[in-house]
Amino acid sequence: MNLLFIGDVVGSPGRDMVKEYLPKLKEKYRPHFTIINGENAAGGKGITEKIYREFLGCGAQAITLGNHTWDNKEIFEFIDQAKNMVRPANFPEGTPGRGLAFFKVNELEIAVINLQGRTFMAPLDCPFRKADELVEIARERTPFIFVDFHAEVTSEKQAMGWYLDGRVSAVIGTHTHVQTADSRVLPGGTGYLSDVGMTGPYDGILGVEKELVLKRFLTSLPVRFEVPKTGRNQLSAIYIELDRKNGFSKKLERILINDDQPWYS
Ligand SMILES: [Fe+2]
Ligand SMILES: [Fe+2]
Repeated sequence: MNLLFIGDVVGSPGRDMVKEYLPKLKEKYRPHFTIINGENAAGGKGITEKIYREFLGCGAQAITLGNHTWDNKEIFEFIDQAKNMVRPANFPEGTPGRGLAFFKVNELEIAVINLQGRTFMAPLDCPFRKADELVEIARERTPFIFVDFHAEVTSEKQAMGWYLDGRVSAVIGTHTHVQTADSRVLPGGTGYLSDVGMTGPYDGILGVEKELVLKRFLTSLPVRFEVPKTGRNQLSAIYIELDRKNGFSKKLERILINDDQPWYS
């Protein structure tokens, strides 16, 4: 079972990159299952039903989220019906949506879990304890378990990687929007990457118009962040090969498409 995971899609530039490159990536890697982190898909903040459906139409099967889950209020109208959407599982009890979902992949099944870190982020329930709870539920049904760990600091992400090593197929980080170069298979068989990176504007700052971010740094005044509408774009993703027999990672390949690392085929 092979997976493709595309990191934080930011606004229309990110969505355009998915539309352009997902078919090419599918042709090259032939993944059985494709996941997209869509927390920034609607103008950088949250996701709408139309975009969610657009991602499924492009060939993704699961959409994960993060700290921007609730930024577009339309989410409340469709998240409970959106069976392919997974939001951080350690949000407070009673929060709409789900943090663990199962998907049929031919005769197999894959579990997708989304968790959010707590260091320099909102004080949520413990992601490690929540992981224990959900991994136990998932392992009763399948050894194929993908975890999107949406967190700020590499230490918390590495901690989660080691904590779940030997229990899940892969722990892949999101949120910082810059791809890290530390992809590996941990000794217990869990694939790991601190951050997969973002998909969207290449010349902004984490996907935001750079002048606006600079203004905030230089003045400390409140600035409304916007996604640049024109300019160069990038795509960040990871391809993961899983062992059909036990669900563990065999190989990870980082994918970065931008003007400095152009698409090769
Ligand atoms: Fe993000
Ligand atoms: Fe985030």
